[in-house]
Amino acid sequence: MEKRELLYSGKAKSVYTTDDADYMVLEFRNDTSAFDGKKIEQLDRKGMVNNKFNAFIMTKLAEAGIPTHFEKLLSDTDSLVKRLDMIPLECVVRNVAAGSLVRRLGVEEGIDLVPPTFELFLKNDALGDPMVNEYHARSFGWAEEEELNKMKELTFKVNQVLKALFLDGGMLLVDYKLEFGLFKGEVVLGDEFSPDGCRLWDKETREKLDKDRFRQGLGNVIESYEEVGRRIGVQF
Ligand code: C5P
Repeated sequence: MEKRELLYSGKAKSVYTTDDADYMVLEFRNDTSAFDGKKIEQLDRKGMVNNKFNAFIMTKLAEAGIPTHFEKLLSDTDSLVKRLDMIPLECVVRNVAAGSLVRRLGVEEGIDLVPPTFELFLKNDALGDPMVNEYHARSFGWAEEEELNKMKELTFKVNQVLKALFLDGGMLLVDYKLEFGLFKGEVVLGDEFSPDGCRLWDKETREKLDKDRFRQGLGNVIESYEEVGRRIGVQF
C-alpha cells in the first residue's frame, strides 16, 4: 500500500492517505504535548516506541475479539490502519483515582474505584475537551445510543484484557482513554493505545511509568515507556 498525501497532522501523529480509500497510514512522531498543547517537546525514539507499543496492544485486543483499526506495522514509525469515520468522543475508564478526577472531585489520588468509572469527553481543543454525558452525545448527534452502548462495552472489555496484561508485568492500569470510529457501519477502536493515553503505576512502588512523567517533569519519559513495553513483551 502506498503512502500518499498528508490528510491531517495532530499533536503527536500524522495521518496520510493511501492508494486504497479504506486505509490510511498513521505516522507516530517524536512530538510530545500536554496541557492542551501548552507544553510541547521532542522526545527521542518516542514515535518508534509508541508505534510498536500500539501495534502490540492492538494485536492483543484483536486476539481478544475487540475490533480495531490496526492492520500492520509498515516501519519503525508508520502503521497501516483502516480509515474510520471518527466519533468525536473520548471514552475514559478509571480503576484508580488520578488526574482530572482527583482535581474535579477533590478525592485522594490512588484510591481504588470499585466498580471502575466510565467518563465521556468531547474532542474539542478550543473548549479543552469538556466532560459530557451520553444524553449530550445523543442530543447533539455525536453518537447514537447503540454506538454509545457498543463503545462502553468495548471500553470495559479492553479493561479486562489490559488490566491482566499489565498486572502480569507488575503494573496497575490506573486509567486510559480510547477513541472509536465507524468502519462500514461497525464501531471499531481507533487512534492509539500507548503510555501517552493511559496511566500505569508500578504495582509495588506506585512509581508513575506513563505520560505523567512528562506532565509533571519527572524525567526519563521514554525510558519508562520502554520499561513498560519490556515488562509486557513488546519488541522495540
Ligand atoms: O486527564 P484525565 O485524568 O482526565 O485523563 C484520564 C486518562 O485519559 C489518562 O490516562 C490520560 O492520559 C488520558 N487522556 C488522553 N488524552 C486526553 C485526555 C486524557 O489520553 N485528551
